[in-house]
Amino acid sequence: NIDTELLRALPKAELHLHLEGTLEPELMFALAERNEITLPYDSVEALRDAYEFGNLQDFLNLYYQGAAVLQSEEDFYDLTLAYLARCAEDGVVHVEPFFDPQTHTARAITMACQFRGILRALEEGHKRWGITSRLILSFLRHLSEEDAVVTLQQALPWREHFVAVGLDSSEKGNPPEKFQRVFDQVRALGLKAVAHAGEEGPADYIAQALDLLKVVRIDHGVRCTEDEQLVKRLIDQQIPLTVCPLSNVRLKVFSQMSDHNIMQLLKRGMCVTINSDDPAYFGGYLLDNFLAVRDAIGMSKAEAVQLARNSLTASFMDSETLTQHL
Ligand code: ADE
Ligand code: ZN
Repeated sequence: NIDTELLRALPKAELHLHLEGTLEPELMFALAERNEITLPYDSVEALRDAYEFGNLQDFLNLYYQGAAVLQSEEDFYDLTLAYLARCAEDGVVHVEPFFDPQTHTARAITMACQFRGILRALEEGHKRWGITSRLILSFLRHLSEEDAVVTLQQALPWREHFVAVGLDSSEKGNPPEKFQRVFDQVRALGLKAVAHAGEEGPADYIAQALDLLKVVRIDHGVRCTEDEQLVKRLIDQQIPLTVCPLSNVRLKVFSQMSDHNIMQLLKRGMCVTINSDDPAYFGGYLLDNFLAVRDAIGMSKAEAVQLARNSLTASFMDSETLTQHL
């Protein structure tokens, strides 16, 4: 097995990370106080104790409730900068974070406030730690396609400040098909498409994301193994999967880490990557996810190097930056 410090030192990119999912209980309480909001928990410990999830929806309920403390540009700045500080400790050289604008515009927090805070922190993170970034705007799939269309319109003034659009939230019953028209608009704007698929939803949602939304990466995708033809296609076309091991165990996609299929997929030649999804809720940042997989399943030095390399080649960084890291 690869040594922890070697893993830390490997240049890695994080491609599946929700900024709202990096809101640590301590920061949640601090922002609640700053914004004069009362949280339905007595303490940081009581809040952490509530992080026991039976499925994706259990988690999403707490995640949306927590995000309500984010109100000002400064709040989005503090959230994003705290995440980048953790990245620096873990040897993360490049990040492609998601944010969910609809979670905030629904509370009358403007798109401008969100973009300004996040972008200023990404610049500061580049200055302080040399971390490069590409931002991804994500639609909430439990809302209507019309709502996503309006959100895309609202984001147009920041067109040059994000590179892709994603699709997240409650997967089952909200297939990629529901968002086909808005993703046509996304791609017509020259933006890349990605989507959560095959986390709780069936393998068919992965195929739909590829065929109907024309995504260039699949977020999660671990249920692909339920369709052998699809597995072959993902390998042939080298479609990257952004897998989130600790998330999958905490949301009961796999009952324990030793059951996770990521290393089997890697051994079959799929372009899988390791990511943290919502680290404040799932008990670990990027390096913790690598370590959890190593300790439960095993990870050789060559496999770790391949996983780190996949994260760089599957990223949207420019080719010059990529060459520097490889
Ligand atoms: N939003 C934040 N994390 C998510 C996940 N793992 N799946 C779907 N939506 C999400
Ligand atoms: Zn996710």
